[in-house]
Amino acid sequence: MSAVKDRASTRIRCPALLEKIMSAEDAAALIDTGTTVGMSGFTGSGYPKAVPQALAARIKAQHAAGRAFRLRVWTGASTGPELDGALAAADGIEFRLPYNSDPVAREKINSGQMEYFDMHLSQVAPMAWQGFLGPLDTALIEVAGIAADGSLIASSSVGNNKTWLDRASQVILEVNRWQDPALDGMHDIYYGTALPPHRRPIPLVHPGDRIGEPHLRCDPAKIVAIVETDAPDRNLPFTEPDVAARGIAGHLLEFYRHEVAKGRLPATLLPLQSGVGNITNAVMSALLDGPFEGMTAFTEVIQDGMLDLLSAGKVEIASATGFSLSREAAARLNAEMARFRNKIILRPQEISNHPELIRRLGCLAMNGLIEADIYGNVNSTHIMGSRIYNGIGGSGDFARNAYISIFMTPSTARGGAISAIVPQASHVDHITQDVQVIVTEQGLADLRGLSPKQRAEVIIANCAHPRYRPALMDYYTRARQGSYGQQSPSLLKEALSWHQRFIETGSMLA
Ligand code: COA
Repeated sequence: MSAVKDRASTRIRCPALLEKIMSAEDAAALIDTGTTVGMSGFTGSGYPKAVPQALAARIKAQHAAGRAFRLRVWTGASTGPELDGALAAADGIEFRLPYNSDPVAREKINSGQMEYFDMHLSQVAPMAWQGFLGPLDTALIEVAGIAADGSLIASSSVGNNKTWLDRASQVILEVNRWQDPALDGMHDIYYGTALPPHRRPIPLVHPGDRIGEPHLRCDPAKIVAIVETDAPDRNLPFTEPDVAARGIAGHLLEFYRHEVAKGRLPATLLPLQSGVGNITNAVMSALLDGPFEGMTAFTEVIQDGMLDLLSAGKVEIASATGFSLSREAAARLNAEMARFRNKIILRPQEISNHPELIRRLGCLAMNGLIEADIYGNVNSTHIMGSRIYNGIGGSGDFARNAYISIFMTPSTARGGAISAIVPQASHVDHITQDVQVIVTEQGLADLRGLSPKQRAEVIIANCAHPRYRPALMDYYTRARQGSYGQQSPSLLKEALSWHQRFIETGSMLA
């Protein structure tokens, strides 16, 4: 034990807490079946890595002995294979929220073995506080260290950690030595949120404002275990931007140039929000070669492209709740932490995604989509209307409240067998009122101020792939003749037939 204490002492500077150090297996034994665990973690960063795996082993052993063992799991957003993957593979998750991108968990959800609610990310903490989600038994949080006063140095994401630490009956900490100690000082933890009718304006008027404290507060009496780890975040690679991604980025940059020329955007643009995925990452990379300087970001995650913009000085300050970096970018961040430290602020996700702040700052929201219909309704989550891919994440927080809400996608998927522009979206996450611009490699549809029928004509002409454009125009023309009403013309029997055809034949093409 004393050797363990010695090793830990540089990261655990509060002597009273050294007694709480134990193995991941011993810590996992403190979590009971049927309870709710609030985990740290946001898009593959800052999630606990050792205790979930020990928990998965325990769950498997319990199942092998014929005993039920399942948990309710809350997180910040997606985590990594050591958490979602391991617990899902062990059939250990009964219910999960709010955002998942793990393939094993996705399969369990889509086969009906796991309940999942992909709620708006800004709403998780307030709803937990309001008591809408039920009690929270355990907070299982990765930190980069523990300060001498017992406050916690957050890790590579903040997510919902503040709320889990406040609400949980017991706290288990993972102190991860892989995380750079220079993360200390990068976080801004705001403790001014309250429940109605006591809410006050959040005093943030610029993405670079610091309105909180550098560390997370935690009642030491609630800490039941501290586990040391030394493992990297998930750090998945991004794909190299292909022709479609470069095309999308080109159209979007042209749009921004035009908006600046028209005086509708300042030359520095407005705070950028860049969603998850390869396309949004490619757009960030393209901004590197664009004419815009002195930009800022008020976003949810910092991906490789954003790090490049910060490194080049094009973006001066980025506010987010976590990193989502490739292995190379994570190594670069760690190597150059001193340089990035003053340019990045990590906040709780209820602040990074807060509708009040997004609306006040006037963010330019750029998110990916699965499909959009000819009227501009967007499906970000469900393939063929029923199979979840990831979840809505923060896209709803930003899309509804942005200065301009932009959605991007290649015009086709699965080698051209699927059109991303369809007669009717098979599931809707973002109603047409929350969608002002749609971009594909074919072109850009500026939908601002247009009625549904005007939107349809622009989307089909500018965004659809030429292989699908005639069929979309044919559908729209017949809908204008045979529809029950003429506000958003539709042929109900045919509107989802493209999806049905794909399910039956493997292609949307007739
Ligand atoms: N029909 C069926 N499948 C489709 C599809 C469509 N219209 N469009 C895309 N797909 C599939 C792709 O084939 C791919 O599947 P695979 O993993 O089996 O290869 C998958 O969806 C992802 O597509 P990809 O082109 O790689 O997109 P991406 O990495 O740019 O991500 C989203 C796009 C929509 C999945 C992603 O942006 C997302 O999860 N968005 C919702 C959450 C969000 O926006 N968060 C940010 C808020 S801050």
